[in-house]
Amino acid sequence: MEENKVALFDIPRILDVRGNLSFIEKGIGLRFDMKRVYWIYDVPGGEIRGSHAFIEQEEVIVALSGSFDVVLHDGEAENRFSLNRSYKGLYIPRMYWRRMENFSTNSVCLVMASTRYREDDYIKDFELFLKMKKG
Ligand code: TYD
Repeated sequence: MEENKVALFDIPRILDVRGNLSFIEKGIGLRFDMKRVYWIYDVPGGEIRGSHAFIEQEEVIVALSGSFDVVLHDGEAENRFSLNRSYKGLYIPRMYWRRMENFSTNSVCLVMASTRYREDDYIKDFELFLKMKKG
């Protein structure tokens, strides 16, 4: 994976008649030291999560169950990624505006983050984000 580039990648899969297994670890799908993992679930139909950027945090997002879209803005253009497989990871570098939407019933959005939770890492104002991207 190229540094600082969004990447939708395959997470290793161990196929097994007893049920499949996937894993991710530093160097295998994960380029950063994971400091935190959180998940979003029980999202009511039509709700949107996210809608902010992170100054430092990098992350990998996985649709562990069900499906949803991750919409990313790099300061110039928007790109939509539809996640619906538990063996697909979306790597998001720092400084991307991102939101999650179109959650299916019972979907689970797993986020592996490179930082601990810090409110001051969030950029919640889109205009400010655009300004910061322009430098
Ligand atoms: P937020 O990151 O805004 O959620 P989303 O981007 O998915 O819409 O977080 C929602 C709330 O949860 C906010 O009050 C902060 C809190 N929170 C934590 O306490 N720890 C965490 O690791 C995260 C991700 C959120």
